[in-house]
Amino acid sequence: MADPMTALNLRINGEERRVLSPTHHTLLEVLREECSLTGTKHGCELGECGVCTVLVDGQPVLSCLVLAAEVEECAIETVEGMQRGNELHPLQSTFADLGAAQCGYCTPGILLTAQALIADNPQPSDGEIREALSGNLCRCTGYHKIIEAVRWAAALERGEADAKPPSEALYGSPLPRISPPSAQEEDPRQEKG
Ligand code: FES
Ligand code: FES
Repeated sequence: MADPMTALNLRINGEERRVLSPTHHTLLEVLREECSLTGTKHGCELGECGVCTVLVDGQPVLSCLVLAAEVEECAIETVEGMQRGNELHPLQSTFADLGAAQCGYCTPGILLTAQALIADNPQPSDGEIREALSGNLCRCTGYHKIIEAVRWAAALERGEADAKPPSEALYGSPLPRISPPSAQEEDPRQEKG
């Protein structure tokens, strides 16, 4: 027997979409399969990895745990809607500049979670950034560059156009200075005498 179907009115990235989908489809499935918005990633489907995060009325939501029918009439934002005209969102550009995205599978969910954080708290501490992103797992980056990128994007969003991350974040830490050996260390005969 064919799955029962439901007609939905969804508002995705500011556009009204009329979608016919199997009634049991989650928001994740509707975004990817019925709307072809594959920027939202498919991971554990258990609410544990965060790669499926989208914003619903500005709040991060795990789209694998929500039926699409539950968010009719809500404002849904996906990574495809982050760009501002021809410009990347500051989070997108700082992630690219710092190498905070490697394989990129976790990146859409992290970007949207960070966008909601910055909208709510324009000057988050590192601890607040870590706490906000604690449900978004990344297997590649070690998180350090992600924290730096969110902090830098928050500064740009506050209008601090000259903000820069610490130089270590861009170029790595300086190598330790090694002094040349003294003349005594170079001549083993001096040590014996
Ligand atoms: S796919 Fe939704 S939390 Fe992992
Ligand atoms: S960049 Fe690969 S999982 Fe995060």
